[in-house]
Amino acid sequence: MVNRTDTSDELRGRVAMVTGGNSGMGKEISLGLASMGATLVMVSRDPGRGEAARADVQQRTGNPHVELLIADLSSQQSIRRLVHEFEAHHDRLHVLVNNAGASLPSRVETVDGLETVFATNHLGPFLLTNLLLPVLTRSAPARVVTVSSGAQAMAKLDFDDLQGVRSFNEIRVYNQSKLANIVFTYELARRIAGSGVTANAVEPGFVKTNLKVPFPYSIFSFMRGKAVDGAKPSVFLASSPEVEGVSGKFFNNKGAPMQSTKSSYDESIARRLWAVSAELTHLGATTSAQSSSGWPVLPKAMRSRTTWARPSSRARWTASSPNRSRMASIAVSRRSLRGRVSPEKRPS
Ligand SMILES: NC(=O)c1ccc[n+]([C@@H]2O[C@H](COP(=O)([O-])OP(=O)(O)OC[C@H]3O[C@@H](n4cnc5c(N)ncnc54)[C@H](OP(=O)(O)O)[C@@H]3O)[C@@H](O)[C@H]2O)c1
Repeated sequence: MVNRTDTSDELRGRVAMVTGGNSGMGKEISLGLASMGATLVMVSRDPGRGEAARADVQQRTGNPHVELLIADLSSQQSIRRLVHEFEAHHDRLHVLVNNAGASLPSRVETVDGLETVFATNHLGPFLLTNLLLPVLTRSAPARVVTVSSGAQAMAKLDFDDLQGVRSFNEIRVYNQSKLANIVFTYELARRIAGSGVTANAVEPGFVKTNLKVPFPYSIFSFMRGKAVDGAKPSVFLASSPEVEGVSGKFFNNKGAPMQSTKSSYDESIARRLWAVSAELTHLGATTSAQSSSGWPVLPKAMRSRTTWARPSSRARWTASSPNRSRMASIAVSRRSLRGRVSPEKRPS
């Protein structure tokens, strides 16, 4: 992958949201999108870490349009509030990067009584994306990018114990959530085909971040690459004209389409996961994608609970910002990946 040598304004006037934007790859993805001029909404669960990251992204890119919203993606109420707060200030969303993710050594339940890794890594992106589909569709062309993992290859969706109640294994539960990211992405792409919104998943590689790597994979921690490199395929999918209109694909860390595990292509499994997820997130048949009667509508009571975490200070966007060219190194140009997605792989 060839890096850019300067910044571009490719995303100027476009609105992007990145979850888990305060650390690891999410922060690098945020830097990449902000350096291309996007109006960026970084989502963090912690106000302190979130504001520190937002201010840093703003300062290093010189982009004044870097905002912060606070949400715990393991909590459905928090996700609904996030969407409400976003929509109170933006009527367009062109890019959603579902990046936030976690791995836990033991079974912990969320405020909704769900297993935390499954809730954060799969149900969170499922609910957030579905709730944002109306604004994404209004903003089309728009893109949804979900950060999965190569771990999907070792996973199986266990519908008898999706939440590790009978037995909990850290690696199995994490891998399953990353396979769910892909199954969800493929099913979403089928359901929203023709809407102008695309959905793709990405495997960022084995990257050094705050994500805890359990034994025995921890033995290979010395092989972990840089977060900035793990962010590149997501930035590419979120921004490059090369993948305009490409949907329902899984991309590797070089930005090339790759096969996911066989079961991920099973549409009956995908429909089943969608139905279970819709039930667990209380997204009724009429309020999730493929609804014939319209898009999700928030309950009235929820619409009134708004606290907007706007940035406290705003720098000016200047062409002479000393950090623009440095940050540009992760913004993947259309040149860098030209030819990666062959026309025959594009949906007709
Ligand atoms: N690192 C790798 O080798 C690797 C490989 C394949 C895939 N991935 C995937 O890459 C994505 C990014 O992870 P990373 O490696 O960059 O790890 P990271 O540095 O730990 O970043 C994860 C981000 O997700 C946030 N997050 C976790 N739980 C959350 C919750 N309940 N609500 C809101 N935000 C939450 C974290 O917030 P806090 O800072 O508050 O914890 C953090 O900002 C994840 O989806 C992960 O599964 C990573």
